[in-house]
Amino acid sequence: MRKLPHSATLVNKYSHKNRKILIIYTFVISFFRYRQAMRINRPMASPPRKCIVMAKKLYIETYGCQMNVADSEVVASILKDEGYLYTNDISEADLILINTCSIRENAEQKIWNRMKQLKSMKKKRAQLLVGLIGCMAERLKEKLIADGQGVDFVAGPDAYRELPGAVAAAEQGKKSVNTILSLEETYGDISPMRLDSNGVSSFISIMRGCDNFCSYCVVPYVRGRERSRDPESICCEASELFGKGYREVTLLGQNVNSYRWKESGDVMDFPDLLEKIAGIDPLLRVRFATSHPKDLSDHLIEVIARNANICRHIHLPAQSGSNKILKLMNRKYTREQYLERIGAIRREIPDCSISTDIIAGFCAESEEDHKDTLALMEEVGYDFAYMFKYSERPGTRAAESMDDNVPEDTKITRLNEIISLQNRLSEISKKGDLGKSFEVLTEGVSKRSAEHLTGRTSQNKVVVFPRNNIAIGEYVRVTIERNTSATLIGKVSE
Ligand code: SAH
Ligand code: SF4
Ligand code: F3S
Repeated sequence: MRKLPHSATLVNKYSHKNRKILIIYTFVISFFRYRQAMRINRPMASPPRKCIVMAKKLYIETYGCQMNVADSEVVASILKDEGYLYTNDISEADLILINTCSIRENAEQKIWNRMKQLKSMKKKRAQLLVGLIGCMAERLKEKLIADGQGVDFVAGPDAYRELPGAVAAAEQGKKSVNTILSLEETYGDISPMRLDSNGVSSFISIMRGCDNFCSYCVVPYVRGRERSRDPESICCEASELFGKGYREVTLLGQNVNSYRWKESGDVMDFPDLLEKIAGIDPLLRVRFATSHPKDLSDHLIEVIARNANICRHIHLPAQSGSNKILKLMNRKYTREQYLERIGAIRREIPDCSISTDIIAGFCAESEEDHKDTLALMEEVGYDFAYMFKYSERPGTRAAESMDDNVPEDTKITRLNEIISLQNRLSEISKKGDLGKSFEVLTEGVSKRSAEHLTGRTSQNKVVVFPRNNIAIGEYVRVTIERNTSATLIGKVSE
């Protein structure tokens, strides 16, 4: 039988071994500590690396209409989720997006010129990416990405959700073009990032596209079919803005008053939506643009009339005062029908201002047609107008089947006559406001004087008045004392 060792002998034996291990361990540790100490005292070969990831910066330049302004805010929001910080300083941007317009030839020419400048900017900043988005991107597609133009990707108005992919591909040196138009896209679930905001007024896009096919217009081709955004998301956006202190929203669409939402038997049309938004709070002003005369229903006029916070201003583009030209333009109303709608507005909302768009020198426009336009303008007495000379757009019905036969100098002469008539009408409109008092929503400090504030009346007229202690976003009553060509000037009356 094996004998067990005596316990004292055992302890002794193991203590001896442990001591040896301890000595070796102490020696090794001391050696490493000594080396570390030597390293600390030695000068560093290179500075320590900081592990900070710099956020990339996005800059968007927006051309064209209010729809494009609203779209840029959606795009900024989509790219923010991808880690892009928005900057107002183009010189520090890693990604520049140009949100383009195609409405007239000179709108596109502006973009071509801008592309040249960006191309030279890219030569100095190797990492800089440039994307073209919007209506001209949709119209010209691959042509914008041709070698040597300095454009990294092209995305049409319905392809903004795919932008992160296009940017990532561009970072890898791969160019892309996405101009697929959608029948459903409204970006309704995306909360737009408010760019360039005064914190008081904001746009809310409620529909996209246009089905009217006015014969001169490129919009139905570059924006696709008409589709309406779901009313819940519109109301949420408006309520959220009101909660953040905004006091005015402008509901936007190419053809805003043909808004129509249909879901499982329920229908909501534009007047109902407008009234719903106006019901959020009496302090929230509601505007809308642009309405088509054919969709300006009695119901819509009634809704405006009975809601004090729906602004007393309707932008109702006539385009021409001649029935022959309106037919060629495919506007779907006659001069008489247009004037009948103006009569209905005047009757039901007597303090409503009315503005318009006019095109000079459309195909086959005679001197007599032009005179009809001037007479219509005079008869309506517009408060304001946007005026253009006809510009042929490839692919439109007019370009395909009509002759752009009004000579350029005649177009210019007619446009000048239209502009000088409107200047006179606008002056009459402003003079009519002298001595009257208006509720003005304060939007900011006047550009000309820090002692004055600027705001707008319900009729969309700009008013400047002394600052006193009035806060931006506040409503004040202002009595109009005088005017300049663009502005009413007054003093606070309460
Ligand atoms: N959807 C709006 C207008 C959108 S375009 C509406 O129907 O009222 C804005 C304006 O640009 C138009 O009202 C029209 O006056 C003008 N416009 C459109 N195409 C044009 C063209 N080819 N040449 C000149 N002006 C044009
Ligand atoms: Fe163009 Fe006519 Fe549509 Fe307006 S309604 S966007 S002018 S097609
Ligand atoms: Fe221009 Fe497109 Fe608006 S063509 S006017 S930016 S819808």
